[in-house]
Amino acid sequence: MELIHSGKVRDVYADGDDLILVASDRVSVYDVVLPTPIPDKGKILTRLSLWWFERLADIIPNHVISATDVPDEWRGRAIRCRRLTMLPVEWIARGYLTGLGLKEYEKNGTVSGVTLPPGLVEASKLPEPILTPTTKAAEGHDEFITYADVAEQIGADTAARLRDVTLEVYRRGAELAAERGIIIADTKLEFGRAPDGSLVLADEVLTPDSSRFWPADEYQPGRPQHSLDKQFVRDWSSTLDWDRTPPGPEIPQEIVDATRARYIDVYERLTGERWDG
Ligand SMILES: Nc1ncnc2c1ncn2[C@@H]1O[C@H](COP(=O)(O)OP(=O)(O)O)[C@@H](O)[C@H]1O
Ligand SMILES: [Mg+2]
Repeated sequence: MELIHSGKVRDVYADGDDLILVASDRVSVYDVVLPTPIPDKGKILTRLSLWWFERLADIIPNHVISATDVPDEWRGRAIRCRRLTMLPVEWIARGYLTGLGLKEYEKNGTVSGVTLPPGLVEASKLPEPILTPTTKAAEGHDEFITYADVAEQIGADTAARLRDVTLEVYRRGAELAAERGIIIADTKLEFGRAPDGSLVLADEVLTPDSSRFWPADEYQPGRPQHSLDKQFVRDWSSTLDWDRTPPGPEIPQEIVDATRARYIDVYERLTGERWDG
């Protein structure tokens, strides 16, 4: 199979008209991939994405063809999907203000052209979830764009439909997660077009790699929140004399174990299913 893309965490292969998305056990902190894998991470995130795709299928069709019809050595961590023409937009829904959204707000009082009330701080809950699209840059960093720009680029009807879908996916995900003690602060979706022109939800969905998950019982606006997945790795790495440029340090076994346990915990809490490897 032809490797057509290798991201920090996932590899993408073409198989005829299909794609095979393979999630590795690699972990990145501060955008640097560390040399030590977290065992099963790729499988856990793949299964979580599949679980969500199924539960969101009434909102919009998705790209999944099969999780089993994949090469043996990738079984569990790979998804066979429809190869789509991707739209050049990252569809981000935010229910809380943090990260680049917060930076933009502090500068302009807006995010992606959406005006927010004054007085918000790090991790503030927004009055209602908002759409804050960004460009999907092939090189360099994604940038906020306004909804009007998106509509101009891809057409008003498509933009309106995907805005509604994005906010609905976020609402449903956030509501379910809240019942299980997890705040989904924001999430990023990607959509593509099938050959018949229909819009399809692609990539991954509502995973800790595409979203910010916070433990609800530690939530406190005004300071950065702990992330539910990589926090152990980040905390440990910040104790090191490491300048956050490659190569990253080897992760000690106890941090690997704690991080793996955290991924499993998130999976089990969200899905209500036992992780059986
Ligand atoms: N069904 C699909 N058809 C075509 N491209 C897809 C599909 N699903 C996801 N992609 C693309 O595959 C790539 C997945 O790579 P990823 O591991 O996320 O790396 P990165 O985000 O660093 O480019 C992304 O560019 C995504 O837009
Ligand atoms: Mg990606």
